[in-house]
Amino acid sequence: MNILDNLKKVRELDKQDMLGVEENFYGQLLEAKKIAESTVLSQLKNKNFAGIAILGMGGSGFTGDIIKSLIIDYVEIPVEIVKGYDLPAFVKKGWLVIAVSYSGNTEETVSAANQALQKNCELLCVASGGKTEEIASVNGKCFVRLPSGFQPRGASGYLFFTTYLVLRKLCIVNISDSEIEEALNLIRKKSELYKRDIDTDNNPAKKLALKLFNNMPVIYGTDGYLSAVAFRWKCEFNENSKYPSFWAEFPELNHNETVGWENLKGLTGNFVLIVFKDKEARERIKVRIKTTVQLIRSHFNDVVEIDVEGRSKLAKALSTMYLGDITSVYLALLAGVDPTPVDRISILKAELAKLDK
Ligand code: PA5
Repeated sequence: MNILDNLKKVRELDKQDMLGVEENFYGQLLEAKKIAESTVLSQLKNKNFAGIAILGMGGSGFTGDIIKSLIIDYVEIPVEIVKGYDLPAFVKKGWLVIAVSYSGNTEETVSAANQALQKNCELLCVASGGKTEEIASVNGKCFVRLPSGFQPRGASGYLFFTTYLVLRKLCIVNISDSEIEEALNLIRKKSELYKRDIDTDNNPAKKLALKLFNNMPVIYGTDGYLSAVAFRWKCEFNENSKYPSFWAEFPELNHNETVGWENLKGLTGNFVLIVFKDKEARERIKVRIKTTVQLIRSHFNDVVEIDVEGRSKLAKALSTMYLGDITSVYLALLAGVDPTPVDRISILKAELAKLDK
């Protein structure tokens, strides 16, 4: 029996129950829906924004990546992602700036949110508390309060889905009730399949973690939401599993990375390539994926093709993301590490905090 099917051992290693958090992803999405419904948005109602800038780093930064990728093909104003201290010059009065920080204290996000205030932008803060809550309350701006006590990356159901549904209330996100239902139902089914009680032989997330054990994951998505999700997988392998991991997107990777596997075979023999495949992708992307895999497969220990499930983009994005999130927790446990602490991030934040004293 491998350790993933030894529930006692799993509990011992996973001290703060990151696996439990992942198993409850569906519950988080349901709660996120309620939070969005009860959020008061009077300051922002019936406004025509010149553009939308979504701020956020790391686990919170995923919110902007995924929302932009889901709305970019129909929203007619610019949507800008800001992962740093400064707003671009073109973000000014008339723009809606959304500051997403689970802790509310991430200094890059706080800095850019303060710049949004100076520039008289509309501001919406999404957090569990912290400085961005203070910024919103002192300046009379809208605030979306998320439940506290999670790791930011373990709160993605709250961070992403609440923000997405708040934007739906503001008539920026356009999605039907049935598409939302489809996504939720798919996640509910997947959570039944991926949970710890399902043994490895019948659990796709545990199986994938076993394939990745002692191998470096390289994840290929396709530009758009599957690219955002590929980046998310990489970050989850970094933070939960404490594994190095890299990602790239079609078609861009066909113009550089595809060539780059020709050398260092001794090293890449310990890499596993993961490729997301959407049956509704355009034909030319399908040919790119097939040809690329044929060209580079011999450089990897293994190639795993993930068939994207779901009908709507939301369902596809969430279900693919979910498999990566929970797999990264199983991979941590296989590697004998606690998925929750991210000591190096805490050390960096503490070192930077000394500058303020
Ligand atoms: O997942 C994590 O812990 C990090 O990537 C954080 O999300 C990141 O450091 C930003 O912090 P916050 O999400 O609180 O703004």
